Amino acid sequence: MSAGSIATAAYLVAALLFVLSLAGLSKNESARGGLTYGVIGMAVALAATIGLCLHDSTARGRVVVILVAAVVIGAAIGLWRARVVQMTGMPELIALLHSFVGLAAVLVGWASYVEVEREGLATFTGSLLRIHHAEVLIGIFIGAVTFTGSVVAYLKLSAKIKSAPLVLPGKNVLNLGALVAFAALTVRFVISPDAWPIIAATAVALLFGWHLVASIGGGDMPVVVSMLNSYSGWAAAASGFLLDNDLLIVTGALVGSSGAYLSYIMCRAMNRSFLSVIAGGFGIEAGPSGDVEQGEHREITAEETAELLTAASRVVITPGYGMAVAQAQYPVADLTRTLRERGVDVRFGIHPVAGRLPGHMNVLLAEAKVPYDIVLEMDEINDDLADTDVVLVIGANDTVNPAALEDPGSPIAGMPVLRVWEARKAIVFKRSMAVGYAGVQNPLFFRENTQMLFGNARTKVEEILHALQRVPV
Ligand code: TAP
Repeated sequence: MSAGSIATAAYLVAALLFVLSLAGLSKNESARGGLTYGVIGMAVALAATIGLCLHDSTARGRVVVILVAAVVIGAAIGLWRARVVQMTGMPELIALLHSFVGLAAVLVGWASYVEVEREGLATFTGSLLRIHHAEVLIGIFIGAVTFTGSVVAYLKLSAKIKSAPLVLPGKNVLNLGALVAFAALTVRFVISPDAWPIIAATAVALLFGWHLVASIGGGDMPVVVSMLNSYSGWAAAASGFLLDNDLLIVTGALVGSSGAYLSYIMCRAMNRSFLSVIAGGFGIEAGPSGDVEQGEHREITAEETAELLTAASRVVITPGYGMAVAQAQYPVADLTRTLRERGVDVRFGIHPVAGRLPGHMNVLLAEAKVPYDIVLEMDEINDDLADTDVVLVIGANDTVNPAALEDPGSPIAGMPVLRVWEARKAIVFKRSMAVGYAGVQNPLFFRENTQMLFGNARTKVEEILHALQRVPV
C-alpha cells in the first residue's frame, strides 16, 4: 500500500471522527464523548499529514525541524492558554483562534501564488491553471475577511474597543463596493496573474472584514462569533483546495456549515435577520446607544431582600454575565436550596444569549448542582413572570431590558427578553448603574417595582443567606 493511500484512509477515518464529534457536541450529556472523538480525529489527521510530508519530501531534515518547531510552539501556547482562560474569556479566545485560521488561509494563498504563478511550479495548465488563479484569490479573500473580522470581534469581546456598532455614512454601499471590487480583481487576476490584483484584493478583504464586524452592535456579538466560526471553516476549506488536501476541505466544510447553522439558530432566538447580520448589519439602522439615566432608581439592602424572599411564595432567578464574573453560582445554589426547604417555589429563567457563550448560565448552574428541572428556557418561563412574587436579576442587564420590546429606536429593538418587570418585585443585583454589553441604558432600573441591590453579586447573595438564617422559618 502506498503512503498516499494510507494517508487517504487515515483522512477518511479522521473525517468520520469529526462528524461523530460534532454529533456528540450537540447535547450536554454526549459532549465529553464528542470532544474525545475530536481529539482522536485530530491526532489521526496530524499523524497522517506528518507521515505524508516526510514521505514526499526531498529535504527531510529541514521538514522535520520545521514541523517539530511549529508543533511544539503551537502546542505549548495552546496548552498554556487553555489552562489559564476563564470561562468568561472563552468567546474572545475563540475569536482570536478564528483569526489564526484566517491568517493561515491568507498565507497559504500567497504561498500558492508564489509557487505556481511566480515560480511556475504548477503541474497543470490551461483552464485548470485559471481555476487555480481564482482559488488563490477566493482563499485569500475569505481568509483575510476572517482574520480582521475576528481581530475586531476579539477587541470588542475583551472590551478593548467599544462594542457599539460603527456606523460609517453609506456603510452598505461600502460593503457592496468591496464585493464588486473583489469580483473585478478576481476576473483581472484570472486573465493575467500579476502581483497588483492580489495585493489589492488582500487589502480590500482586510478592510472589508474589519468594517463588517465593526458595523455589528454588541447585542449581535453572539451571532458574530458563530458567523466567524463559519467563515474560518470556509477559509480552511479554501486552503484545502490550494494545498490539494481532502481532509482540510471536508473539515472546513463541516466547520463552515455547522457554524452557519448555529448562526441561524442564534438569529432566530434573537429575532434577527440572518442575512442582515452576516452582511454586517445590512439594513439595520442602529439608534444611539443611549446610556443616559432615565429617572430615579430605588435601592434595597440584602437584609430587606431576605425579608421579601421570606414572604414570597414564587421566586424566579434570571442570571446573566455578572453572575459568571462574580462566580456567584455557588451561593445562588445555596440560596435556592434554602428557599425551597422553606417551601418557596424557586425557578430559573435562562435567556438564550445570557452571559458570553451559548449555554453559559446552564453550565454554571449545573456546576453548582442546581437541579436541571427548575432551570427553564426564556420561552418556558416568560408567561409565568406576571404571577411571580420576586424576580432576582443576578448580574443580567441586556437580557432583561424592556427597551428591546418597547423602544423601536433601541439598538436591541426586537430582541426577545425576559419580562421580569411584570413580576410584583424585581431586585437587580449589580455594582453600579453601568450599562450592559450592548451599551444601552435599561429602563427596568427606574421602574416603580424595581429595586437595585448594589455590590458584588456573590457577596450580596451570601449576605442574603446570612440574613435568612437569622429569620425564623
Ligand atoms: P450584560 O448585558 O453583559 O450585563 C451584565 C451586568 O452584570 C452588567 O450590567 C454589570 O453591571 C453586571 N456585573 C458585572 N460584574 C458583576 C459583579 N461582579 N457583580 C454584580 N454584577 C456584575 O449581561 P446579560 O444580561 O447576560 O447579557 C449578555 C450580553 O452579552 C448580551 O448583550 C449578549 O448579546 C452579549 N453576548 C452574549 C454572548 C452569548 S453567546 N451568550 C456572546 C457575546 C456577547 P455593573 O458593571 O454595574 O456591575
